[in-house]
Amino acid sequence: MDVYEKLSRATEYIRSITDFVPETAITLGSGLGGLANMIEETASVPYGDIPDFPVSTVAGHNGRFVFGHLSGKKVVAMQGRVHYYEGYTMQEVVMPTRICKMLGAKNLILSNAAGGLDLSFEVGDLMMITDHISTLVPSPLIGKNVEALGVRFPDMSEVYSRELCNKLRKTANELGTPLKEGVYLQVTGPNYETPAEIEMMRRMGGSAVGMSTAVEAMAAAHAGMKVLGVSLITDVPGKDIGPLTHEEVTRVANEATEKLSRLISETVKNM
Ligand code: HPA
Repeated sequence: MDVYEKLSRATEYIRSITDFVPETAITLGSGLGGLANMIEETASVPYGDIPDFPVSTVAGHNGRFVFGHLSGKKVVAMQGRVHYYEGYTMQEVVMPTRICKMLGAKNLILSNAAGGLDLSFEVGDLMMITDHISTLVPSPLIGKNVEALGVRFPDMSEVYSRELCNKLRKTANELGTPLKEGVYLQVTGPNYETPAEIEMMRRMGGSAVGMSTAVEAMAAAHAGMKVLGVSLITDVPGKDIGPLTHEEVTRVANEATEKLSRLISETVKNM
């Protein structure tokens, strides 16, 4: 079965549960988990029930699609995502994003936890993603092109929609929420970076480094979706003290969830 057949079968399964057509898809990455509680839910579909769907290997993170209204707008939230470092192919990693498009979503909002490369960043900062560097990870578009979604050689000159970025900037300003901006650089993980790697990534032009978002944004841009991305800076390697742990990243992400969830729900209102 090719990628498109798998996508179609998974989409058909979801359609057998709900006919809800979302306008905006939202990936609830670290720091945005709290947004799930703000959605007036009409239906939900556990990932594990969907044929060929990639399910997180992290315990207690199985995940589901949540359909409903957020700030009066029709959304589908992806509660839980899979990462390349879990052993999935990049095509599998972007399957949820592509299914959102096939369900009708025109916009995609991505969130993640990331390490700050820009030394002016502080732990707990929010960074709007204005562009990305995905060169260090395999493209999710490698393999037979899914013609139904997009072209073989897609343009990537505006992956992050200027229009949506302006809406996020305006909303952050109205809420008085400080918002940094910068370039997200993706690595495979699961290991964090060495000091020499961090220095290289700074020189390459990255503002923040993480293990998830650029490939999802690429798959969405390939399919013609408007993308908005926010990184929550959970650590600034070389600036704060001591070795980095997943527990520390999670702790900072959980602390910021209310601030980020409010910013996103208010932005969705204006979309
Ligand atoms: N590096 C890579 N991914 C991350 C980091 C980091 O420092 N922090 C949170 N996710």
